Amino acid sequence: MNLFLRKLATDSVEAGHGGSGLKRTLTAVDLTLLGIGAIIGAGLFSSIKEMIVGRFAADGTLMMHGAGPAVMVSYAVTALACGFAALCYAEISAMVPASGSAYSYSYAAFGELIAWIIGWDLIIEYAIGNVYVAQSWADYFQTFLHGLNAAWTIPVWLTKDFQSATGAVHAAQQMMTSGTATLADKDSANALLAQWEHVPRIGEWVLSINLPAMSITLALTVLLFLGIRESARANAIMVVLKLALVGIFIGLGFWTILHKGENHWTPFAPNGKQGIWQGAALGFFSYIGFDAVSTASEECKNPQRDLPRGLIASLLICTVLYILTAAALTGVVPYELIKTNDPLAKAMEFMGYSNFATIFAFGAVIAMTAVLLVFQLGQTRIFMVMARDGLLPKMFAKIHAKHQTPHISTWVTGGIVALSCSLLTPDQAIGLCNIGTLFAFILVALGVIVLRVREPDRPRPFRVPLYPLTPVLAILACLGLIAGLELSNWLRLVIWLAIGLCVYFAYGYRNSVLRRRENAARGG
Ligand code: ALA
Repeated sequence: MNLFLRKLATDSVEAGHGGSGLKRTLTAVDLTLLGIGAIIGAGLFSSIKEMIVGRFAADGTLMMHGAGPAVMVSYAVTALACGFAALCYAEISAMVPASGSAYSYSYAAFGELIAWIIGWDLIIEYAIGNVYVAQSWADYFQTFLHGLNAAWTIPVWLTKDFQSATGAVHAAQQMMTSGTATLADKDSANALLAQWEHVPRIGEWVLSINLPAMSITLALTVLLFLGIRESARANAIMVVLKLALVGIFIGLGFWTILHKGENHWTPFAPNGKQGIWQGAALGFFSYIGFDAVSTASEECKNPQRDLPRGLIASLLICTVLYILTAAALTGVVPYELIKTNDPLAKAMEFMGYSNFATIFAFGAVIAMTAVLLVFQLGQTRIFMVMARDGLLPKMFAKIHAKHQTPHISTWVTGGIVALSCSLLTPDQAIGLCNIGTLFAFILVALGVIVLRVREPDRPRPFRVPLYPLTPVLAILACLGLIAGLELSNWLRLVIWLAIGLCVYFAYGYRNSVLRRRENAARGG
């Protein structure tokens, strides 16, 4: 029973050139745009709030410390960790240019079982990551709608996942009966309960769904079904808009700081090193996405040359923009006032550009749409490659005759994400996505080392500098970030991976193309 059959780099390269049916149209610039499209999104527009002020449970208990204005340092720390990982991705993706990203690299480096684990784990990165982005998209979308016309509000039971809705109602009920709550607190709890009064329930559970998040997910699923070229073009337009938006925010922020001659950068690190570290662990989400570039390798003209360029260029550009945005935000608004789910739009109001806040919310909606698109694309390609290897049912690898896209994977991914938007809370989605992705990054960095040992002579169009220091630092940095995450995320990851192992032994192990080929060669 060999669980570690390896699909060597050459197999993957051949698979990549073997007439998979996908169109080869993407260049280095397209890949950089794809990267920026995947990177700047809900992390910068939403989770920056928690990186700065921390996270509290519904009953007010502190769950994680915030970094305060030192969020700039948190971004720099995470960028460093991602930089080491990006170099590892660049080496391995140029060497094994197949659509499956870390999944394909692990198949080459470690063999089938680990590859399966990583493929299964990547569902957390792409599909569950998209859940958080779609939920943040929904927040900004509501701000935008409300800005257009104050009467345009979506009924409350169509705006939240059922766990968050249930949690909010329970917290309000407790507040009403609490002996220590102030009158003002009781008033707001009462208003909240009135809002939810007529929403149907099953026992304790409030039956609420996040309709905007589900709708955008399904709309993009249709776009992806229609074709990658069209999608890449739509992505390029969205990225340009996104860069303009972030540029304007930074410009107005610094202008306001200079004009007023004052800033709010002190106290710089109110929660010291712990705040910076926990901010960095959460901030990791803001950088996730550069690795999605590598999932498009079967669709790019020259993967060997262009993948490393696309990966590193997109990461560098985003790092500079994040640090500048964080500096502008915390310079303009005292950090403890950064409390809403749409912090950048509110900062616009704070600076005195109220009208611009609605336009900004619209821009954020566009920006996050680009992220959703790239992640959805990445997930479908991973399903496709795993199915091609026989680890998932063959239908996931089917390419649509007219649109040349893996249509069944596309619809299945869209369905999973849309449903999860109403099942998971944003905190669960972002935590799970971060830990799952960090785990995949560690495996990729280890894969660089393992392949250097196992296949030292294989051509490497791109080699990480300072080997073996770079992959070792990537592993240590990712472990450091994992340690900064709340423990509940570890538990969820372990449960998810355990389910994955059951699926593997029930299906993948028996249907693996590589194993069948191997058995046939042995006459067995
Ligand atoms: N980096 C992506 C975002 O922030 C996931 O939305």
